[in-house]
Amino acid sequence: MSTSLMWTEKYRPQTVGEIIGNDEAKKSFISWLKTWKPGVKAALLYGPPGVGKTTLVQAAAKTFSYDLIEMNASDTRTAEKIMRVAGHAASEDSLLTHFSGSRGTLILLDEVDGIYGREDQGGIGAILRLIRESKVPIVLVANDISDVRLRDLKNECLLIPFHHVRPPLLLALLKELCRREGLEAEDEALKILVNRCEGDVRSAINDLQSIAERTKHIKVEDVERLLPRDKQITVQEALKKIFLADPPSEARKALAEVNIDFELLHQAIHDNLPYQYKDPEDLASAYDALSRADLYFGRIKRTKDWGFLSYALEQMTVGVAASRKKSYYPVGYRFPPSKLILLSKSKAERELKDKICSLIAEKCHVSRRRATMDFLPFLKAIFSSNLEEAKKIASWLNLTDEMVDYLSSGKVSKAKKR
Ligand SMILES: Nc1ncnc2c1ncn2[C@@H]1O[C@H](COP(=O)(O)OP(=O)(O)OP(=O)(O)O)[C@@H](O)[C@H]1O
Ligand SMILES: [Mg+2]
Repeated sequence: MSTSLMWTEKYRPQTVGEIIGNDEAKKSFISWLKTWKPGVKAALLYGPPGVGKTTLVQAAAKTFSYDLIEMNASDTRTAEKIMRVAGHAASEDSLLTHFSGSRGTLILLDEVDGIYGREDQGGIGAILRLIRESKVPIVLVANDISDVRLRDLKNECLLIPFHHVRPPLLLALLKELCRREGLEAEDEALKILVNRCEGDVRSAINDLQSIAERTKHIKVEDVERLLPRDKQITVQEALKKIFLADPPSEARKALAEVNIDFELLHQAIHDNLPYQYKDPEDLASAYDALSRADLYFGRIKRTKDWGFLSYALEQMTVGVAASRKKSYYPVGYRFPPSKLILLSKSKAERELKDKICSLIAEKCHVSRRRATMDFLPFLKAIFSSNLEEAKKIASWLNLTDEMVDYLSSGKVSKAKKR
């Protein structure tokens, strides 16, 4: 097993020609690369995630025979590190390249916008020095370059903007992937998929793959079942949605849109309830619903039967909303909730998630950020739908039982018990 399990890796364009969209950016990058000589500016590719920035640099290096040195600017915290790894190649007019058939070295400093922050003082200065002294071309990549701290850097670079990839191109790509993977897909379904990804190719491919885990005949419903992307709402917004849902059944939707541990959300609803429902009867009946949810959570813990989860969730959302007989205005919701115990639990969860992403990063040679964005959602999809595959991945990545539980939301340990 390898990273080719991920379609974003399996189908990562190997040549510049395979990269869809952003023709202007591709053109200016290639012409910059072809004409680069010492003294010429570095290139700074920037734009939204998942549109092919990193891929373009990698594909161009391959197409034009450069040895690519990739570094994650935001992971490499200090100035010295950047100089040590990239500075060496940058100052060396490598003898080797004359024999290897390579045109020389190309340095890629990815995720440059993550470099500043307290610990990173000097990080940008080091890159500036590197750019000025370099004997080999340097490419910087970032999402957002609006921060003032990048001003000096921008002055030293040829700025190459990337944009969202247009829907028809994305649709054609998804159709091609379906063909290669032997999937049948309704046109309408793919169109919805394309729309929801808003020009982010990586998201589109990830979504397609996670649907394909479940079915080989993709219909509109399959796409609609996916969680809304980029539509994540804050806990405060979720609370408002739940408390003031009209009709009450709408309250359920908040669950899909908020990214928070369900028990923590339960606690937050509990804590905010008295500020929101002022009428004693509304309040009493909402607390009843919450305590029923609590019972179900307890039962899940004792029996490890996750079948109770939907009851718990129904009570704490629709149950609460249906208790409301008077009408209320939204209030200032308080979050995080009062119980520190629960908070430390969510911190433990975050740490667990970080550890998983480090393992992925190491094994798949990607940055932790990449692991979090590209791999984690997808692993979660596999772990909750395909236990066989999950087992293989778990042993390949050396995941602990706890990590497996996290990824599968408890499903794997439940299956083991059977
Ligand atoms: N324009 C594209 N054409 C074909 N595939 C693409 C394109 N853009 C992205 N992909 C797919 O998405 C994956 C991620 O792309 P890439 O790493 O180049 O994104 P990025 O623009 O660098 O995003 P980020 O800003 O998050 O680093 C690739 O492996 C590839 O499978
Ligand atoms: Mg990138």
